[in-house]
Amino acid sequence: MYGGLSIRRECMSKIRLPNGTILPDLSPDKGPDIDDTGSLLAAVVQSSDDAIVTKDLNGIITSWNVSAERIFGYTEEEAVGKPIMMIIPPELQAEEKEILRRLRAGQRIDHFETVRIAKNGQKVFVSLTVSPVKDSSGKIVAASKVARDVTRTKQIEEALRESEQTMRFCLDAAQVGTWHWDIKTGQVRWSESMARINGLQSGALSGSLEVFLQRIDEESRERVRQAIRQALEGDGKYHVEYPVTKFDGGTAWMEARGQVIFDSSHVPVSMMGVSRDISERKLAEEALREAHEQLEMRVKERTAELDRAQERLRTLSARLLRMQDDERRRLARELHDTAGQLLVALNLTLVPVEEALAKRDPELAKQVTAGLGLVDELSRDLRTMSHLLHPPLLDEAGLHSAVRWYVEGFAERSKIQVDLQLDPKVGRLPAEFETAIFRIVQECLTNIHRHSGSKSASISITRHGDEIKLEIIDRGKGMPTPISRGGVGIQGMRERVRQLGGELEIESGTGGTRVTARLVVDVVGHDRSTAAMDLAS
Ligand SMILES: Nc1ncnc2c1ncn2[C@@H]1O[C@H](COP(=O)(O)OP(=O)(O)OP(=O)(O)O)[C@@H](O)[C@H]1O
Ligand SMILES: [Mg+2]
Repeated sequence: MYGGLSIRRECMSKIRLPNGTILPDLSPDKGPDIDDTGSLLAAVVQSSDDAIVTKDLNGIITSWNVSAERIFGYTEEEAVGKPIMMIIPPELQAEEKEILRRLRAGQRIDHFETVRIAKNGQKVFVSLTVSPVKDSSGKIVAASKVARDVTRTKQIEEALRESEQTMRFCLDAAQVGTWHWDIKTGQVRWSESMARINGLQSGALSGSLEVFLQRIDEESRERVRQAIRQALEGDGKYHVEYPVTKFDGGTAWMEARGQVIFDSSHVPVSMMGVSRDISERKLAEEALREAHEQLEMRVKERTAELDRAQERLRTLSARLLRMQDDERRRLARELHDTAGQLLVALNLTLVPVEEALAKRDPELAKQVTAGLGLVDELSRDLRTMSHLLHPPLLDEAGLHSAVRWYVEGFAERSKIQVDLQLDPKVGRLPAEFETAIFRIVQECLTNIHRHSGSKSASISITRHGDEIKLEIIDRGKGMPTPISRGGVGIQGMRERVRQLGGELEIESGTGGTRVTARLVVDVVGHDRSTAAMDLAS
């Protein structure tokens, strides 16, 4: 069955086993029956998981067990008597020569990892132990080889190495380092990349947790300690960001995430985690914050500029309104005093002419009479124009009379029926208020006539305490949306009301338009607004 052994049974009284063990003296008078011992030995060799092969000193195979058959694919019959070279890859044949050289020198080769070729051409990774076999006189007569198939182990090792390489590559690419803190011993193990990521010299991170903590500036150190404490006492999750001083003196920002491992009684055993350099993110955050601040500052500056410009505009429009009122008042007076007086003079000049001509030339007298009629008409128109520009009643008799006079004239000219409600409680008001209210009434009625298409309107001026409420309503088609920006009438109304610290509200729809102005007549405010207008003018 096991040729190599059975052939040599007669010379086996003192022999080494293929694994190097010297067999006990197996001569019949010293121990068990040689046949029994041989059978036992053959059974041991055959049942071994390792390939056990013997060869002579010329490299010719002399025995080949079952596992050798399984591992290398050759049967005992195919292998015995053949050179061992048949399972050695060509590029490694020099290796066999070296093995034989060392065997001849009586040396043993232990757990030598190499490659062999199976019958089917597949590579087999083996761990070899080669021992010289000596006869009873100590002469080396053969060699035994125990070959353990380590292909699977190699494959696992290879896969492990690959996965480790991939892992290391990923961690490196992501600038991530790993660490493991053994809580019992207090020792921390850092991955090689940790020192680099922390901007430290290689090997700078080693030893205890305290070594690591000392790298962090004092203020952040306490925060990191706190995060560790929380993880240990809480759910084991650790997350902290902190700055470290680098080897070159610069600062790097790190982010660490970890997890505490607890034993079955929830006692923390260790903590492991990863750290990465987040300096770029921190820089970007910082830059963003600065940009935000700058932007906010510029917005504030611009807003202040805008406020100033608006204030200047308001001052200007207040001044313009005031100038407009003054100009209207001046024009009204001019028309009345100059053109009006000239027309009176013309009338006075023409009346005697008319009288003189009545007897002498009645035809010519008629023409003078017609001319006098035109002078009268012109004089009336001039008066109306002058009063519309600035009703003298406003200064003399006050808002009530001026508004009543104006409304009556408007209704007559426009054929729009106007209902006027004047609260007697309104009384006389400071001149700015009376002018403003009169001008708003004037603008609203003009707008109703020009834009609304309404046949009627109502005006009410009421007073509750210090508040004056002016309401002008029409039943026309309402304002278009968006409202035309071309006119200055509504803007002027708003500005007048604003100057007096009041509010103007316009509601408009298909049922008509309602303009409401609310003004508070307060003496202090009035003084203030007068002062503002004086300053502006
Ligand atoms: N009572 C109203 N009914 C309908 N539309 C109106 C009424 N009042 C104003 N509008 C609309 O609002 C616009 C703006 O009015 P605003 O008084 O500001 O300007 P305007 O009357 O067009 O010109 P301006 O008053 O400068 O002579 C008008 O052009 C008109 O379209
Ligand atoms: Mg208008």
